Amino acid sequence: MDGTDSLARFLSKVPLVDGVYQLSPPRAFQHAEEQYDERRPPENCTLEFLRRQGGHMLSFFRDQGYQPGQPVLEIGCGPGWVSAALATQREFGHLLCTDPSPAFTRIARGRISQDLAQVSRVDYGMLLAEEVDVLPPGSVALIVLRSVLHHITGVPEFLRRCAAVLPPGGLLICEEPFYDGYVLMGFLAQCIPDALAGAGCPCTPEERALVDTLVATMQFYARRDVDKSQAEDKHLFRPDELLLQGREVGLDLTCFPNWYFTVDPETNRKNRARHFQRFFANYIDRCMHWPPEFCARVIAVTGRYFDYFVPLETETAPGPYFFGTFVFTRRR
Ligand SMILES: C[S@@+](CC[C@H](N)C(=O)[O-])C[C@H]1O[C@@H](n2cnc3c(N)ncnc32)[C@H](O)[C@@H]1O
Repeated sequence: MDGTDSLARFLSKVPLVDGVYQLSPPRAFQHAEEQYDERRPPENCTLEFLRRQGGHMLSFFRDQGYQPGQPVLEIGCGPGWVSAALATQREFGHLLCTDPSPAFTRIARGRISQDLAQVSRVDYGMLLAEEVDVLPPGSVALIVLRSVLHHITGVPEFLRRCAAVLPPGGLLICEEPFYDGYVLMGFLAQCIPDALAGAGCPCTPEERALVDTLVATMQFYARRDVDKSQAEDKHLFRPDELLLQGREVGLDLTCFPNWYFTVDPETNRKNRARHFQRFFANYIDRCMHWPPEFCARVIAVTGRYFDYFVPLETETAPGPYFFGTFVFTRRR
């Protein structure tokens, strides 16, 4: 019996409510799910865009050892953009898209129409990552997470449970924030009020509060001496630490810094030029939701600080690491 059979057989015994398998108790996201991607550019929502991203994922995952037709589990699918892109590729096997949030599983399910889905079967599940090993051993060959590992309370324990679910040679692939780049963003953000004042456009008290929140947020993510169990975003990652945690549980790590698994290698390499400045501009807009006019002023007055990185960020040198793709392979 291969993974596809064991996953389908297992799901046939799990309660299904409104088209969603109830694998874990529901848990809402700490921010309004409907507003999660309201700043997503419209050109990133087309079928053509999703097909392109699906193709890049297939190619990257195959390069890492994924065998077409094998079952795929997505954890923390959120509003389902990665899920939809995966579903456009017929080479992916049975696809199980999961999230603990009922609102997100509903939104993801609504995004994947019958026209879009090319895979043999797509299912939806309510699942907490911490309970991934409710799935039978060897039942999925690939576990995909984008921006989810940093929400999980006990990462070493999660890795152990994934290793129990994957067959030998199976893959756990995550795209996540890196420690050093985020610390650098917090450090830079401290200089924003002085830079604005120096340019003759000092920040208002409301803008100052936005900056202070960004500085405190980066520091909180980086700290390891506080209880984060009640926080939504918890961690920033260092490859050396994940390498050791994976090794302990039979997962070998390969790391691709500043590398999106939804993008082709040529674009990933081109993205390296002026990467820090673009990443920061994107972060204050899309993640911190600063008003557009304030974002524009901040980027204008901080521009010269980023010139330092010009010789360090080239197509052949990735510069400081802000995020990246971690590929864990279950040892054979
Ligand atoms: C930053 S969003 C990313 C959503 C989606 N993967 C994407 O890239 O658009 C984080 C997602 O992780 C989910 N999440 C948070 N904690 C989780 C946990 N312990 N187990 C599984 N998913 C979790 C949230 O509900 C949310 O959908």
